[in-house]
Amino acid sequence: MIRTFIKKITHPFLKFFTENYFNKTRNYTYKNITVKVVPSVFPPHYTISTKILLDYISSLDLKEKTLLELGCGSGIISLFAASKNATVTASDINKNALNALKTAADYNKLNLTILYSDLFQKLQKSPFDVIIINPPYYPKNPKNIKENAWFCGEDFEYFKNLFFQLDTREDKLVLMILSQDCDLEKIKNIADTHNIKLECVLEKKVLAENNFIFSIKKTFN
Ligand SMILES: C[S@@+](CC[C@H](N)C(=O)[O-])C[C@H]1O[C@@H](n2cnc3c(N)ncnc32)[C@H](O)[C@@H]1O
Repeated sequence: MIRTFIKKITHPFLKFFTENYFNKTRNYTYKNITVKVVPSVFPPHYTISTKILLDYISSLDLKEKTLLELGCGSGIISLFAASKNATVTASDINKNALNALKTAADYNKLNLTILYSDLFQKLQKSPFDVIIINPPYYPKNPKNIKENAWFCGEDFEYFKNLFFQLDTREDKLVLMILSQDCDLEKIKNIADTHNIKLECVLEKKVLAENNFIFSIKKTFN
């Protein structure tokens, strides 16, 4: 879990590689859509979660569906969903990410609503057809805007707030990716206290790491 992650980024070579590689703005392309990933934004190149979500939504019929990417980072998922004719809202608390996404939307000639919002705070109350979440999941308090992409708070505050807020919403399909690298039991237990269960809709092993896409369902207990 966190040990694996710490091992991943504290290994001298990987630390040097990640710090230097992502200190520069890098392009990321998926099916003819290109975004510029600025240094303070979650890099979809190095992690595999973004790509797994992109491949998964490739198979969904998104035409005329409303879709929210909660915590959009580079926004590649939002742009791809817009290219599949969804009506997309992309939200984040990282203003650098949102500014870069505005430029990427123009560059790719795609329309979407880009919004600063802490979870659902500034988002419409009416339900979305689809919500996509690639959450931060390592238990540590984020010290800066970049770390918000990785750390969910020492006591998993991100998940506590997320499930609390989802409990009062009526969105149709809420998909969240997690991996064996995080404390799945803890996150499931937090969901449970809000009468929410995580139903696995995809399990995918990449480079010896199991990744899971969960559909977030209310249990009405
Ligand atoms: C793991 S990154 C995923 C980025 C993008 N969705 C992707 O798949 O490439 C998590 C994102 O959630 C954002 N985030 C963290 N806490 C948030 C919050 N409370 N409200 C909205 N976004 C948040 C981070 O800034 C970051 O961009």
